[in-house]
Order: sequence, then structure tokens, then C-alpha cells
Amino acid sequence: MNVILCGFMGSGKTTVGKLLAEHLGMDFVDTDLSIEADEEKSVSKIFEENGEEHFRDLEYNKCVEISKRDSLVVATGGGALTFDRNADTLKNNGIIIYLDVPFEVVLERVGDGETRPLFNDKEKAMELFNQRKDKYEKNCNFTVDGSENALKVSYTIFEMLFDRA
Ligand code: S3P
Repeated sequence: MNVILCGFMGSGKTTVGKLLAEHLGMDFVDTDLSIEADEEKSVSKIFEENGEEHFRDLEYNKCVEISKRDSLVVATGGGALTFDRNADTLKNNGIIIYLDVPFEVVLERVGDGETRPLFNDKEKAMELFNQRKDKYEKNCNFTVDGSENALKVSYTIFEMLFDRA
């Protein structure tokens, strides 16, 4: 079984995911970093040179690859769990946890969003944030408040996983 973290850009998926993987003694995978390693270029470059649709296909393929593996903590890209095909695939072998944060916290954490192609325009990022909330909620198994510090969030998830077992 894998533990999948989802949520908007800046919700803390990578930072929390690394800590949680340590607590659980599981390996950590960041889907964006893994795609970048496969493609030998940054997510920004993939968006720029090949377009978002191509990136979404790479992201789906990565979800398929991950669902065939076991005992991973996975930080997904902010858009991944807004697509049902990714959620359906990851749910086959994973529990999906949504890190819920208010947009003000996202703004503080992401700053100017330089390395994030979908965060160049703050107005548009806010629209995206509002559109996506329902999708994350629908596609997750559990929601946690991601606005606390990362260590606290990682322990909350850790305890939740054990209460559930
Ligand atoms: C995206 C979020 C990014 C990355 C890509 C698209 C999105 O990941 O996958 O830029 O659609 O929200 P982070 O959430 O890790 O920034």
C-alpha cells in the first residue's frame, strides 16, 4: 500500500512527504522530480516546449508506474489528483490524503512561483485553487489541515494511518 499526498501548489506535499516517509520507514517519491529525471528537463521546460497536455500524459504514466509499486510515500504534483484517471489508478494500491490549506498560506509559501508554470499569474492561480478544491475532496480518502508546520502535519497523518489500521 502506498500513501499518496495531494493538494494545491504550496500545500506542503514534498516537505511533509519526506518526513512521513521517515516516520513510516518507507521510500519517498516526488512525481514531478521523477518525471524531470526521466525526461532530463524541468517541469517548466516540459510545459514550455511540449505543452501542458504532454506533461499530463507523463504524469498519468507516472501514476501507473507508482501504482505497480508498494510501500511508497508519494508527493504528487498539484494538478495530478484533479484528474480522475490519476486518482482511479493510484487508489488501486494507495490511500490518498489531501493537504488542505487556505489560499493565503499558498501565497506565503509559493512566493512569486518562479519555477511553477501555473503560478505566474496570481489571479489565475486563485481561480485554479477555487476550481480544484472539490476535485481534491472528491478524490481523496482523508483530508488533513496542511497549514500547520510540516512536522506536525506529518505526525497527524502518521497517527491517522495507525488509528485506521
Ligand atoms: C502543477 C503543480 C506543480 C507541477 C506542475 C503543475 C499544477 O507541482 O506538477 O507545475 O497543476 O498545480 P507542485 O504542486 O509540486 O508545485
